[in-house]
Amino acid sequence: MKVFAHRGFSGKYPENTMLAFQKALEAGADGIELDVHESKDGKLVVIHDELLARTTGKDGTVSDYTLQELTSIRASMTMDDLFDTKIPSFEEYCDFAAGNRMITNVEIKTNLCWYPDIEKRTFDMVKAFHLEDRIIFSSFNWLSVIRLRQLAPDIPCGLLYEGHGVRHLAFQAKELGLRYLHPGFSLLDDETVAECKASGIGLNVWTVNDEQKMSRLMEWDVDSVISNVPDLCLKMLDRS
Ligand code: G3P
Ligand code: MG
Repeated sequence: MKVFAHRGFSGKYPENTMLAFQKALEAGADGIELDVHESKDGKLVVIHDELLARTTGKDGTVSDYTLQELTSIRASMTMDDLFDTKIPSFEEYCDFAAGNRMITNVEIKTNLCWYPDIEKRTFDMVKAFHLEDRIIFSSFNWLSVIRLRQLAPDIPCGLLYEGHGVRHLAFQAKELGLRYLHPGFSLLDDETVAECKASGIGLNVWTVNDEQKMSRLMEWDVDSVISNVPDLCLKMLDRS
C-alpha cells in the first residue's frame, strides 16, 4: 500500500505548503496529495478552499487575487500562524517534485468554481516538468475527470466521491477509462472493494488518520492511503 500525504504532511505542518510537502518527503511518504485552483490571472495555485480565510486569514476568494499576490500570502493559519510559509504556485510545487521521486495526486478543485481550462493548464505544467509518469489526477467533478481523460489518456485518473448517490461506481469508472476510485473512508465497504478488484479499478482512500481505519485499509489491501499523518501510516506498514 502506498502512503500519500494529504495536502502534504498536514497533520503537523500548514496544509498545501512547500513546508508540508518537504516534510512529507522527509517522512518517507510515497506521494503527495494536493489541491489546485486558478488565480485571477489564470495561473495555478495550490490551496484547498475557494475562500482564503481558513488557511490565510485574508478576505475573498482565490480568484480575486493574482498569482503574485497569492504567493506572497502566508498560509499558516491552520497551525496558529506559527510557520512562515506562503501559498505555493503549482509551478513551484512541480519544480520541487521534479527533484524527488514521489508521486503526486493532483486534485483539480472544480467543486464550486468554474475555472476554464484548468485541466489543460495543469497538464501543461506537468508536462513542462516531465512529471507525467509520477502523476495521478483526481476530481470530484465528473466533467473535469472526463476532460483529463481526453487530454491525458496515459495519466492515471481517479474519481473522488463523498456521497452515496451512485452505486456500483467501479463499473462506471471502468467505462470512463479511469484507473482509480478515491472514496472517503466512511463510504468504502466490502462490496465496493470486491467490485473494484473484479474490475481492475484501484482504490486510493482518504482521509485516514488513525490506527483502526488504517488496519481496515490493510485488510482490504487497497492501493493507497491518503493521510494527514503519513508517519503513522508508514509505521503501521513497518516502513518507518
Ligand atoms: O483527494 C482526497 C481529498 O483531498 C479529497 O477531499 O476536501 O480534502 O480535498 P479534500
Ligand atoms: Mg484534496
